[in-house]
Amino acid sequence: MYKIAVIPGDGTGPEVIREGLKVLEAVGTAEGLKFDFVHYDLGGERYLRTGEVLPDSVLEELRTQFDAIYLGAIGHPDVKPGILEKGLLLRLRFELDLYINLRPVKLYPGVDTPLKDKGPEEIDFVVVRENTEGQYAGAGGILRKGTPHEIAIQESVCTRMGVERCLRYAFEYARRRNKKKKVTLCGKTNVLTYVFDLWERVFHEIGEKDYPDITRDYAHVDATVMWMVKNPEWFDVIVTENMFGDIITDLGAMIQGGMGIAAGGNINPEGVSMFEPIGGSAPKYTGKNVVNPLACIGAAAMMLENLGETNAAQRVENAIQKVCSTHLKSMAAGKMGYTTQEVGDLVVRYL
Ligand code: IPM
Ligand code: MN
Repeated sequence: MYKIAVIPGDGTGPEVIREGLKVLEAVGTAEGLKFDFVHYDLGGERYLRTGEVLPDSVLEELRTQFDAIYLGAIGHPDVKPGILEKGLLLRLRFELDLYINLRPVKLYPGVDTPLKDKGPEEIDFVVVRENTEGQYAGAGGILRKGTPHEIAIQESVCTRMGVERCLRYAFEYARRRNKKKKVTLCGKTNVLTYVFDLWERVFHEIGEKDYPDITRDYAHVDATVMWMVKNPEWFDVIVTENMFGDIITDLGAMIQGGMGIAAGGNINPEGVSMFEPIGGSAPKYTGKNVVNPLACIGAAAMMLENLGETNAAQRVENAIQKVCSTHLKSMAAGKMGYTTQEVGDLVVRYL
């Protein structure tokens, strides 16, 4: 029995989570797995009603009582930007020490990519984004606010421990993945000479000592985005700091067919992890039954994989691929040729 905390969240979050849960129930029946889903009404609505974003007691429950967390989307048009993101999503990442943000960029057969002459053979890599440090650590402040002498500082915090555990995860992931066995460090050693000095040193130090079977490669972040468009087939595993990882994975989502298909995991390899579609709450599509649930269903597959249920994970992934290649006209909201619910039903049919 797996105990899963479910946070449908805001906007279209609940619509896509519903399909994800449907698929989990179905694959559970097929594979003999049982799930106990406990729902939490965290998000914009609750905040507007009660002023609570993430009560400490809920955080403690999430930390201690679950095998995984399944999150829909966070972000509400009536709530000032930053409150829910920092108070809920980022707080969960920090407090649960979800130090890896794993974001596969994989083009499934039959899915359109904006990249000319590139297909599933060329677009298949994984971004390992550090998820607890960098500019996201929140170091900095504003001084003399509102005056002509105002100063705003936002610093990047990278620790040896934080960098090393992220790099090790990336090397080990490349080994397990067993494809090109290559890790590309994405940085900016020519300008961010402190932070990436640390990243680069640790990269080569542990790479040489503990992962001699893995090829080490380096690309500046600006070059990385260029290669992601021009030669995505060069990549296998890209490892990078938090902010760069945030930015390049939106591009990654686009080349794999869009936000409708992009899934991710916030992982603490030693604790409870959280899985989510990369896209946001999409207020303009809310309640219309038109957004693509495949990203959220893909996040469920990643969750199964993380729980060690490899067969179930593969089954869901295969069903998603089948739905992409034989049914959906597009991955985009309103253009799929099916409703959100029908796409969930199709995945269940192909399980
Ligand atoms: C993401 C999102 C978040 C981030 C926001 C919502 C805080 O963009 O998960 O990529 O910046 O990490
Ligand atoms: Mn982002």
